[in-house]
Amino acid sequence: MIQTRKHCKIDTPFAKDVLSGLQSMPKRLSSKYFYDEKGDKLFQSIMEMPEYYLTDAEYDIFESYRQHILNLIGDQPFDLIELGAGDGYKTKVLLRHFLVQDADFKYLPIDISKNVLLELEQDLNENLPRLKVEGLPGDYFEMLEQLNNKSKIRKVILFIGANIGNLTRAEALHFLQKLHQNMSKGDLLLIGFDLKKDPEIILKAYNDSAGITAAFNLNLLHRMNRELNADFDVKAFKHWETYNPISGETKSYLVSKKKQNIHLLDETIHFEAWEAIDVELSQKYSLSEIENFAKNTGFQVIKHLFDQQYYFVDTIWQK
Ligand code: AVI
Repeated sequence: MIQTRKHCKIDTPFAKDVLSGLQSMPKRLSSKYFYDEKGDKLFQSIMEMPEYYLTDAEYDIFESYRQHILNLIGDQPFDLIELGAGDGYKTKVLLRHFLVQDADFKYLPIDISKNVLLELEQDLNENLPRLKVEGLPGDYFEMLEQLNNKSKIRKVILFIGANIGNLTRAEALHFLQKLHQNMSKGDLLLIGFDLKKDPEIILKAYNDSAGITAAFNLNLLHRMNRELNADFDVKAFKHWETYNPISGETKSYLVSKKKQNIHLLDETIHFEAWEAIDVELSQKYSLSEIENFAKNTGFQVIKHLFDQQYYFVDTIWQK
């Protein structure tokens, strides 16, 4: 039930997505909106938690296989293009090694946020002064198209951190098809997938005892209060996590503990007691599902690289 309240003009994509998401059944919000300034800090803390095995697993893969990766990609000059820049914690393992080995490459992180790129570039200029780096602010596919038009150098695309898991299977397939279209024959893709494993390990990674993931999810309610004039009583919601070992879907919800009305923008949103907002999917895959993705999008699998516990895979594909 939606009623009109005092008029309030906020016309951002965030505002539009929030309104349509909270007016749909079931209610949903996109996890891409977790990442405001506070959310970035909380995600940083998540990556440092012992329960969040994904970061350590991928770091372990890069440390163990950095020379192997260079052997596979470095037989000619290449542009190392990273989709989503982050703080470069794991990528630096590769960058440092490639520099030590005098590989002929340039690092091109693409990110929608100019700020994130600026911080990363500053950090790399200080810590890896010999690295050739150029941050590309914008949409992944627009930036890839620009690069295609101006350079014929081999592209090696990094899409790490299991970011693909935040897309549905259908979205992931579409994303990989578009990547394939934006690559030239011989270009390579290194992509990180989180694997299906003991459900208890997965659940703990998204439902940690210190409550950091809960705070990360609930920050979305704070963000709507801050940016959209909403009046969420954050204590009246709880974070709830599920893992389905058949589908591999790991899902986060924010559940209303009581019947309540929320006001935001110029609307009133009604919650029944225990009604939930679907806020994040972190899809886990089996190796055969990953190989099917490669087959169905026209890539050839070159190599799977696993961490010691077989929790995670970075897989290298070629067009
Ligand atoms: C960014 N992404 C791959 C993380 C994940 O595992 O889905 C985001 C995250 N959500 C809760 N913890 C971490």
